[in-house]
Amino acid sequence: MDKLLVEGGRPLEGTVRVSGAKNAALPLLAATLLAPGEHRLANLPALQDVETMLSLLGRLGCPSLVGPTLRIETSRLFFCEAPFDLVRRMRASVLVLGPLLARCGEAHVSLPGGCAIGVRPIDQHLKGLEALGCRFELEGGTVHGRTDRLRGAEIAFDMPTVTGTENVLMAAVLAEGDTIVRNAAMEPEVADLARFLRSLGAVIEGEGTPEIRVRGVPGLAPSVQPYRILPDRIEAGTYLVAGAITGGSVTCTGTRPGDLAALLDVLSRAGCEVHTHGDAVTVARQGPIRPVDVVTAPHPGFPTDMQAQVMALLTLAEGSSHVTETIFENRFMHVAELLRLGASIHVHGNQAIVTGVERLKGAAVVATDLRASAGLVLAALSAEGTSEILHLDHLDRGYEALVPKLQGIGARVFRLDLEDRGIRPPTDVVATA
Ligand code: EPZ
Repeated sequence: MDKLLVEGGRPLEGTVRVSGAKNAALPLLAATLLAPGEHRLANLPALQDVETMLSLLGRLGCPSLVGPTLRIETSRLFFCEAPFDLVRRMRASVLVLGPLLARCGEAHVSLPGGCAIGVRPIDQHLKGLEALGCRFELEGGTVHGRTDRLRGAEIAFDMPTVTGTENVLMAAVLAEGDTIVRNAAMEPEVADLARFLRSLGAVIEGEGTPEIRVRGVPGLAPSVQPYRILPDRIEAGTYLVAGAITGGSVTCTGTRPGDLAALLDVLSRAGCEVHTHGDAVTVARQGPIRPVDVVTAPHPGFPTDMQAQVMALLTLAEGSSHVTETIFENRFMHVAELLRLGASIHVHGNQAIVTGVERLKGAAVVATDLRASAGLVLAALSAEGTSEILHLDHLDRGYEALVPKLQGIGARVFRLDLEDRGIRPPTDVVATA
């Protein structure tokens, strides 16, 4: 098990090139199952979750070759199941459900189970796919899906679900007839999937709005040109908050500033200077951090995946902020660890009241989930003294080259691999994610 040593208290200055979006790469890789042949994807991030998805596709019979442009060959499909050992490692494996049903007429996907941030049910995925003509049985923790023929339908989700919308879109594109998806998720990653599906020959319109229309086609084929995955808005947001929390100035390039609007609004209200120019966004802070009330919401609202990072910033505000988490039922796991760094936070249900303190002080903290880990790194970067962050596997899932990118903007951050040194971490530190 690795740990991160962070020597905090230094303003970070410089530029970070943002990688491809994890939450776009995963559905796009699953979507390659819909079109037999060789696909080429550019700007794929080198992340643990992407490796897991490639392992899953490889197990199904689709080999891939990683390089500046990823090549994946989906002509042969030997199996149509996503086994528990891979789904357990990455819930987004459920994204093969729609494509396998559309391609093979059956799919056997282990139920993802919960994770640190919540129960994470998939009832909406199944509701949408049933409307398209699929039948499901749950046996031994595995969802067994079958369909004789997918037929277009009108589907209305009970709540916007990102991967639920993606699963339904990936089935609807090969269904007979038209499909309308209402209360669809509007996240940029969903729109990127729709664009990718169109590049394979799908007929889709309305992505990025609450209503997406699909006209089913008999078949899809890989596009001739490599498809470039959109930039990761959450990675970009994390580095921009790093500039804000340390009182420095960080520029992210290769971004789509429009995808960051809700976050940039909060940072501006918190007293930061925000500049966008082309595909670059700069956030700087010299004065005090002002308290800001934040409520997470589906896109275009404030992203839940930035909640922990902004809470870290608000622990140093001149006053109290209210952070309300409306998407997941247990996404305050970072609070206990922020308290260890000297923050003052009280949680009441789905709301955290963050009372700003003068400074944070370095300590040893444990990461519990991907974005909580990012929040702890940011807090440690601002804290006086040295912090240790355990359980880096969470960070490896979602942040490509985190340490070099942070060092590139002046952070004194070092990764220690405890195992190599024969150092055994305390056994009572149990991974909770
Ligand atoms: C996606 O998860 C992202 N993951 C998450 O990012 C992100 O936090 C989340 O969307 C919200 O933006 C990927 O795209 C791979 P949802 P997803 O379905 O699709 C409830 C990260 O850190 N719900 O939009 O699983 C659900 O419980 C990860 O990168 C149902 O009740 O989230 C939640 O309360 C974490 N039934 C809400 O909807 C369902 O069938 C939104 O969840 C599906 C969802």
